[in-house]
Amino acid sequence: MRNTRKLLAAITVTSALILGSTSAQQYSSPETREALKAAMLDEAFSMAKYKLFAEHASRTGNKQLAEVMAAASNMEYGHFLRWAQLYRLVGTDAQNLRAAVADEINDDVKLYERLASEADARGEKALAEHFQEIKAQEEKQQEEFKRAVEKVLITD
Ligand SMILES: [Fe+2]
Repeated sequence: MRNTRKLLAAITVTSALILGSTSAQQYSSPETREALKAAMLDEAFSMAKYKLFAEHASRTGNKQLAEVMAAASNMEYGHFLRWAQLYRLVGTDAQNLRAAVADEINDDVKLYERLASEADARGEKALAEHFQEIKAQEEKQQEEFKRAVEKVLITD
Protein backbone atom coordinates (compact mmCIF):
# COMPACT_ATOMS: atom_id res chain seq x y z
CA MET A 1 0.00 0.00 0.00
CA ARG A 2 2.74 2.45 1.01
CA ASN A 3 4.90 1.64 -1.99
CA THR A 4 1.88 1.86 -4.29
CA ARG A 5 1.11 5.37 -3.05
CA LYS A 6 4.73 6.43 -3.46
CA LEU A 7 4.77 4.97 -6.96
CA LEU A 8 1.53 6.77 -7.86
CA ALA A 9 2.90 10.04 -6.52
CA ALA A 10 6.09 9.59 -8.52
CA ILE A 11 4.11 8.79 -11.66
CA THR A 12 1.95 11.87 -11.14
CA VAL A 13 4.96 14.16 -10.75
CA THR A 14 6.75 12.57 -13.71
CA SER A 15 3.70 12.69 -15.97
CA ALA A 16 3.10 16.32 -15.02
CA LEU A 17 6.65 17.11 -16.11
CA ILE A 18 6.53 15.05 -19.31
CA LEU A 19 3.13 16.32 -20.41
CA GLY A 20 4.12 19.85 -19.56
CA SER A 21 7.33 19.61 -21.55
CA THR A 22 5.61 18.47 -24.76
CA SER A 23 4.34 21.98 -25.38
CA ALA A 24 6.78 24.53 -26.73
CA GLN A 25 4.00 27.09 -26.91
CA GLN A 26 4.59 30.45 -25.28
CA TYR A 27 1.84 31.42 -22.90
CA SER A 28 2.46 35.12 -22.86
CA SER A 29 -0.89 36.92 -22.85
CA PRO A 30 -1.63 38.66 -19.53
CA GLU A 31 -4.85 36.67 -19.11
CA THR A 32 -3.09 33.36 -19.69
CA ARG A 33 -0.23 34.30 -17.35
CA GLU A 34 -2.82 35.19 -14.71
CA ALA A 35 -4.63 31.85 -15.20
CA LEU A 36 -1.39 29.87 -14.86
CA LYS A 37 -0.41 31.88 -11.78
CA ALA A 38 -3.83 31.23 -10.21
CA ALA A 39 -3.37 27.49 -10.86
CA MET A 40 0.14 27.56 -9.31
CA LEU A 41 -1.12 29.44 -6.24
CA ASP A 42 -3.92 26.92 -5.75
CA GLU A 43 -1.65 23.91 -6.15
CA ALA A 44 1.04 25.37 -3.88
CA PHE A 45 -1.58 25.99 -1.19
CA SER A 46 -2.98 22.46 -1.55
CA MET A 47 0.51 20.97 -1.43
CA ALA A 48 1.36 22.80 1.80
CA LYS A 49 -2.06 22.09 3.33
CA TYR A 50 -1.83 18.33 2.71
CA LYS A 51 1.72 18.34 4.03
CA LEU A 52 0.47 19.88 7.28
CA PHE A 53 -2.41 17.36 7.40
CA ALA A 54 0.12 14.55 6.91
CA GLU A 55 2.34 15.90 9.70
CA HIS A 56 -0.66 16.20 12.02
CA ALA A 57 -1.84 12.67 11.22
CA SER A 58 1.69 11.45 11.83
CA ARG A 59 1.85 13.21 15.22
CA THR A 60 -1.51 11.74 16.24
CA GLY A 61 -0.35 8.25 15.29
CA ASN A 62 -2.57 7.86 12.23
CA LYS A 63 0.16 6.53 9.98
CA GLN A 64 -2.15 5.43 7.17
CA LEU A 65 -3.80 8.85 6.89
CA ALA A 66 -0.36 10.48 7.06
CA GLU A 67 0.69 8.44 4.02
CA VAL A 68 -2.48 9.34 2.09
CA MET A 69 -1.98 13.04 2.84
CA ALA A 70 1.72 12.92 1.98
CA ALA A 71 0.89 11.28 -1.35
CA ALA A 72 -1.79 13.92 -2.00
CA SER A 73 0.75 16.65 -1.22
CA ASN A 74 3.17 15.10 -3.72
CA MET A 75 0.44 14.93 -6.34
CA GLU A 76 -0.34 18.63 -5.86
CA TYR A 77 3.35 19.40 -6.27
CA GLY A 78 3.23 17.52 -9.57
CA HIS A 79 0.34 19.72 -10.65
CA PHE A 80 2.28 22.80 -9.56
CA LEU A 81 5.25 21.64 -11.63
CA ARG A 82 3.09 21.39 -14.76
CA TRP A 83 1.86 24.97 -14.43
CA ALA A 84 5.31 26.25 -13.44
CA GLN A 85 6.76 24.72 -16.58
CA LEU A 86 4.09 26.17 -18.86
CA TYR A 87 4.48 29.54 -17.11
CA ARG A 88 8.25 29.25 -17.51
CA LEU A 89 8.59 30.15 -13.86
CA VAL A 90 12.24 29.11 -13.64
CA GLY A 91 14.78 30.89 -15.81
CA THR A 92 18.51 31.41 -15.51
CA ASP A 93 19.96 32.06 -12.05
CA ALA A 94 20.16 35.76 -12.87
CA GLN A 95 16.54 35.86 -14.07
CA ASN A 96 15.41 33.92 -11.00
CA LEU A 97 17.22 36.31 -8.70
CA ARG A 98 15.69 39.36 -10.39
CA ALA A 99 12.24 37.73 -10.13
CA ALA A 100 12.82 36.97 -6.44
CA VAL A 101 13.78 40.58 -5.70
CA ALA A 102 10.80 41.90 -7.65
CA ASP A 103 8.42 39.49 -5.90
CA GLU A 104 9.63 40.48 -2.46
CA ILE A 105 9.30 44.18 -3.25
CA ASN A 106 6.12 44.12 -5.28
CA ASP A 107 4.16 41.32 -3.72
CA ASP A 108 5.15 40.21 -0.27
CA VAL A 109 6.13 43.47 1.41
CA LYS A 110 3.18 45.41 -0.03
CA LEU A 111 0.79 42.56 0.74
CA TYR A 112 1.79 42.39 4.41
CA GLU A 113 1.74 46.17 4.67
CA ARG A 114 -1.87 46.17 3.44
CA LEU A 115 -2.93 43.17 5.55
CA ALA A 116 -1.39 44.69 8.70
CA SER A 117 -3.09 48.00 8.06
CA GLU A 118 -6.48 46.36 7.44
CA ALA A 119 -6.17 44.14 10.52
CA ASP A 120 -5.25 47.20 12.56
CA ALA A 121 -8.31 49.06 11.23
CA ARG A 122 -10.51 46.13 12.30
CA GLY A 123 -9.02 46.31 15.78
CA GLU A 124 -7.16 43.01 15.39
CA LYS A 125 -3.93 44.26 16.91
CA ALA A 126 -2.31 40.86 17.50
CA LEU A 127 -2.96 39.79 13.91
CA ALA A 128 -1.62 43.12 12.66
CA GLU A 129 1.57 42.43 14.63
CA HIS A 130 1.88 38.98 13.02
CA PHE A 131 1.62 40.60 9.57
CA GLN A 132 4.17 43.27 10.56
CA GLU A 133 6.56 40.63 11.86
CA ILE A 134 6.40 38.65 8.59
CA LYS A 135 6.68 41.87 6.59
CA ALA A 136 9.92 42.60 8.46
CA GLN A 137 11.19 39.11 7.59
CA GLU A 138 10.27 39.67 3.93
CA GLU A 139 12.18 42.96 3.95
CA LYS A 140 15.18 41.20 5.43
CA GLN A 141 14.89 38.54 2.73
CA GLN A 142 14.69 41.29 0.12
CA GLU A 143 18.01 42.71 1.39
CA GLU A 144 19.60 39.26 1.19
CA PHE A 145 18.38 38.90 -2.40
CA LYS A 146 19.82 42.33 -3.22
CA ARG A 147 23.20 41.30 -1.80
CA ALA A 148 23.00 38.11 -3.87
CA VAL A 149 22.19 40.19 -6.96
CA GLU A 150 25.38 42.18 -6.43
CA LYS A 151 27.46 39.02 -6.02
CA VAL A 152 25.85 36.84 -8.70
CA LEU A 153 24.91 39.35 -11.37
CA ILE A 154 28.08 41.37 -11.22
CA THR A 155 30.20 38.23 -11.67
CA ASP A 156 27.68 36.76 -14.17
FE1 LIG B 1 -4.06 19.66 -7.87
